[in-house]
Order: sequence, then C-alpha cells, then structure tokens
Amino acid sequence: MKNINLTIYRPDDWHVHLREGELLNAVINSTARFNGRCIAMPNLENPITTTKNCLDYKNNILKKVKVSYFEPLIPCYLTDNIDINDFKNGIKNNIFFGAKLYPVNATTNSKKGVTAIDKIFPSLEVLSTYNKPLLIHGEKIGKNINIFDREKYFIDDELKKIISFFPNLKIVLEHVSTKYGADFVNQTKNLAATITPHHMILTKKDVFNDEINCHNYCMPVVKEQKDLRSLREYACSGNESFFIGTDSAPHQIIYKQNDGNLKPGIFSAPCSLELYAQIFDEENSLQNLERFSSLNGPKFYGMTHNKDKITLIKKEWKLEEFTTYKDIKIKNFYSDKYLKWQILN
Ligand code: NCD
Ligand code: ZN
Repeated sequence: MKNINLTIYRPDDWHVHLREGELLNAVINSTARFNGRCIAMPNLENPITTTKNCLDYKNNILKKVKVSYFEPLIPCYLTDNIDINDFKNGIKNNIFFGAKLYPVNATTNSKKGVTAIDKIFPSLEVLSTYNKPLLIHGEKIGKNINIFDREKYFIDDELKKIISFFPNLKIVLEHVSTKYGADFVNQTKNLAATITPHHMILTKKDVFNDEINCHNYCMPVVKEQKDLRSLREYACSGNESFFIGTDSAPHQIIYKQNDGNLKPGIFSAPCSLELYAQIFDEENSLQNLERFSSLNGPKFYGMTHNKDKITLIKKEWKLEEFTTYKDIKIKNFYSDKYLKWQILN
C-alpha cells in the first residue's frame, strides 16, 4: 500500500509548559523538534511576573535548544499587584508576549493568580492600548461550582465582563473544553481559543472511574462526548478562531499519584502533532490541519506563518512509556496505544 504523506507549513504551539531546571532539559526537545514558535507558559514555581524574569527564562530555554528555527514567546503572569510600569515596558518592547490570567488556585502554580478581575483592569488597559493579547485560563473556582461547570461560570461571570469593559482587547480562551465555551468563542469578535489533543480524545470516563486515572487528569478536566464532538468539529472545520495549543504539561510521575498531591497536567509534546493529524484524519479533514496547526494562530496574533514546511506520513508507531532524563521520569500521553501518524525528519 502506498504511504500517505501530508506536507504543511511548520506549526507553532500556542500553549505549552516547558518548566525549568532539569525538567526543562527533559522536555524541551519534544516541543522544539518541529515547532517554529511556542508560547511557553509563565506558571513556573516562581511565576514570570517581571521583565527580568521573562528575559532570564527566555535565555534559559534558548540555551537548551539545538535547532535554529525555534522561538519561545512568554506572556506575563498577571497578579493582583503587578508592577504596572515594568509590565507596560515589557508589553511596549515585546519582552512579554501579552499576558496570562490565571484565576487564583485554578491550576498548577496559580497560588499567586488573580483574586478578582477588576484588580487587573490597569494591566488589561495596557494590553488593549498596545493591541497585545490576553490569554486566559477560563475557569471560575468556587465552593458551589462543580469542577465540570467552571468554564461556563468563568465565561458568564468573568469573561463577558472583561469583553464589555475592553471590547477591542484580543483574547484567547486557552484549552477550551466545552461545547458551551467553543460556541461562545465562535460567536464572539476578538476572541479565539486553543484546543488540546487530549480534549478531543478523552472524556470524563477516562479520568473519573472506579479509581481516578491520574495520567488523564488535567485542568480543565475533560468533559462529555458532546463537548469532545464540538471541539473536533470546530478544530477540523478550519474555523479561524481555533488553533493549536497542546497544553502539554509535564509532571514527574511522583506527582501523578492519587495521594493528595496529584498535579493536573498531561504530557503530550512527544506525540502532539501526530495526534492532531490522527484526529483530523478520523474526521476526514486532513485538508484543514494546516490552518489549525500553522495558519490560524499567527493570523489571530498578527504574525506571519512560518515559511518552511514539515511532512507527516501515515505510518503506525509506538512511543516509549516514559520520557526520562537523569532521575526524572515523565509519563508520555498515548504511549499505551499505536499512533497513526509520524513526522518525517
Ligand atoms: C498545567 C500545568 O501543570 O502547568 N496543568 C494542566 O492540567 N493543564 C496548567 C494549566 O494550563 O492549567
Ligand atoms: Zn496550560
């Protein structure tokens, strides 16, 4: 049988966690192996809240990268009491790639996140003035809010408020996880969303069963079949408001146990583009993969797409179970199944 090939402009990853220290060493190549640019999320243990932190982090990343085409972009982690002059300087001079809003305690390393939306209005004003994007972890946390409803509550109570105060602000609802959220993005001007591979593969049954499956536990948690279907339909349609963002979020296996310290996050970087290709293939939409992976993101962000190309080939393979480096061990997503696509080197 003849092999099926697909050549596309080099993709970017508009949402990924590269971590720091030895963990950065362990994972960087999985993202840099084919992506042109990435948005490296700023939720480090000591979050990136200043231009100095940002420049240091960028240098640390670049020191580990072996390829010349790769560029990490880093948003500022917004807090209730950011130094607004330093923030403005970072935005004006393109040190920060926009800013990221983590509601307090919503996910990994969000203790310093935002406690109330109006606390960041001065920062949002700066973003809006300089036409720089606000990236959002769109979940509202509350005693009476079920974990599956957090995205809807965030949209209704917080996002609509932000949009009404800052109608020209460019916003990305990161890792959109529900039909409700995706429909809202589709209908709203200046609003786009990233979609992860795992939200188009898993549903809540894959996480919450007799026992919790810690390796499939992430934020936002994966939802129902109808949500998965909706995300697949928007991604695979080529709709310009949706683009790649793996949310690849590595944690060492010691933190992926249900012992009270379970950290949310799925490490998909070693097979992320391969999984997206598989999903688009299953949906008979391979012709739209390039829009989703390589064109829609730069267009929304007002950037040009990468000029070189990569080729994928339809051929089964299996990933090792773990990514290891020195004494670090991270579980690779989808390593228990056959992958259907490969990147040709
Ligand atoms: C991310 C992490 O571990 O940094 N975890 C996750 O489950 N996605 C944070 C995030 O993006 O929510
Ligand atoms: Zn993330």
